[in-house]
Amino acid sequence: MTARLRLNDGHSIPQIGLGLWQVPAVITAQTVATGLRLGYRLIDGAAVYGNEEGQGQGVRCSEVPRDQIFVTTKIWNDAQGHDTTLRAAEAGLARLGLDYVDLLLIHWPCPARGLYIDTWRALIRLREDGRCRSIGVSNFNAPHLERLIGETGVVPVLNQIEVNPRLQQAELRALHDQLGIVTQSWTPLGQGKSFDAPAIAKAAQRSGKTPAQVILRWHVQIGASVIPRSTREAGLAENLDIFDFALTPEEMADIATLDEGTRCGPDPARFEML
Ligand SMILES: NC(=O)c1ccc[n+]([C@@H]2O[C@H](COP(=O)([O-])OP(=O)(O)OC[C@H]3O[C@@H](n4cnc5c(N)ncnc54)[C@H](OP(=O)(O)O)[C@@H]3O)[C@@H](O)[C@H]2O)c1
Repeated sequence: MTARLRLNDGHSIPQIGLGLWQVPAVITAQTVATGLRLGYRLIDGAAVYGNEEGQGQGVRCSEVPRDQIFVTTKIWNDAQGHDTTLRAAEAGLARLGLDYVDLLLIHWPCPARGLYIDTWRALIRLREDGRCRSIGVSNFNAPHLERLIGETGVVPVLNQIEVNPRLQQAELRALHDQLGIVTQSWTPLGQGKSFDAPAIAKAAQRSGKTPAQVILRWHVQIGASVIPRSTREAGLAENLDIFDFALTPEEMADIATLDEGTRCGPDPARFEML
């Protein structure tokens, strides 16, 4: 049983989940099935990952009941706009073979296109229609969040952003806390770039855990939901096994010093790819 975080709409989300970016479509159903068997209850997908069919198949064919699995998908940039988003969401549900998803996200704000408010209004409607339980955003910076909330009055339950030891996002996470938004960390392992950092290696040695487990535990202790990806069964199991130890305040302080503000992924203020 993994920990859960409360969402501002009354639902809750598992604190750890399985990410599906770059999981080849042919092995996605099997990867999801293995994850569910090992104890994952949150499966993070997206239209643009090209593997929603496998995501849905893994969920539908599992012995774990649907209402115990938290399914996320995302609206890709080329579908932004009110009616296009409504259609994209229906197409996503059809690919997943599901009646609803637990969480629907706007994948990127694409601020230059100026469509994320219309897109958000479509998500509000999809939630009212029962096609998704909760609605949130991804890669939104403070100005995007403030505009969204200011114009619609509806606060996203979650913002899925890049967070790892080299990009700790303390300011944006503090804003999330103030607004009642859960932070969810993508590329949480930071491409392994901090595995050898003394702060990580020392904590790993002290706790008898791997560098990846120390980093995932750090995400949990900063209060984030975290969605590591692995296509190896051993990796999936390792990443889930982080609830039987804790980092000390000194170890948390040491890891805080690794922040360099450097991204693995694109800058949301400029990313407009269709
Ligand atoms: N919203 C967005 O814009 C956005 C952007 C990027 C990602 N995401 C989401 O976030 C999820 C996670 O991010 P990510 O896939 O970029 O990266 P990640 O989970 O940080 O890292 C995945 C990589 O680390 C390896 N790995 C996994 N567990 C490991 C372990 N215990 N020890 C050593 N290596 C390990 C994996 O290889 P193996 O498979 O060989 O284990 C894979 O190469 C994505 O899958 C996606 O769902 C969202």
